[in-house]
Parts: sequence; C-alpha cells; structure tokens
Amino acid sequence: MPIVTIEGIGPVEAELGRKLVNVIEGAGVDILHRCGGRPACTTCMVKVKAGDVSPMEAAEEEALEEPELIETCRLSCQIRVASDLTVEVIHTVTNSGKDGAGPTVTE
Ligand code: FES
Repeated sequence: MPIVTIEGIGPVEAELGRKLVNVIEGAGVDILHRCGGRPACTTCMVKVKAGDVSPMEAAEEEALEEPELIETCRLSCQIRVASDLTVEVIHTVTNSGKDGAGPTVTE
C-alpha cells in the first residue's frame, strides 16, 4: 500500500486508488471538503511536496482558478493515491473556524 506522509502528522498507509482527501481525514486530520468533492470549494487543497499524482483535469483547474494556486496546489478530492506522497494540508476545521468539514467525499 502507498504511504502518505502528512506534514505535522506523519506517515499513514493509504488504500491504492483511494481519494487523497479521505486518506487525510482517515488519518485524523480535520481537513475541509466543503463542497463534497464536486469540485467547487477548493477548501480541500493541499501542497504535494513529494511523489507523483495524476495530471490536473479541467474541472480542478477551473475550480482553483488563480494561476498561482494552479501552480502550487492540488485539490485532494480529485487525487486518487497511486504511490507514496508527502502532502501539506492547508485548510482545516480548526484553522478556519468553520462549523464542520463538509459533506463526505464519495469514492
Ligand atoms: S473542491 Fe470542494 S471538496 Fe475538493
């Protein structure tokens, strides 16, 4: 199984092909996913520090919108884990003050 290392948390095993946002949440991180993975909200964004992820598709690029975000961030609801990764989570319930993470992102 691939290993996803979450900065500030540590390494966790990830089921091959599982959505990254669900791997992160399953590791106990209160990552936001306010739109449930449509993708529209961008609150699930992460920085991929190491490892390979699938190329960004049009819907993800449209949601991120700003060139600097497209360059540096990915939407974790749009990534299926295929190999070892190291990621930094940006928005959490705790650091945002939101009242909840959002609807479950379906696999
Ligand atoms: S863009 Fe909203 S959960 Fe990923």
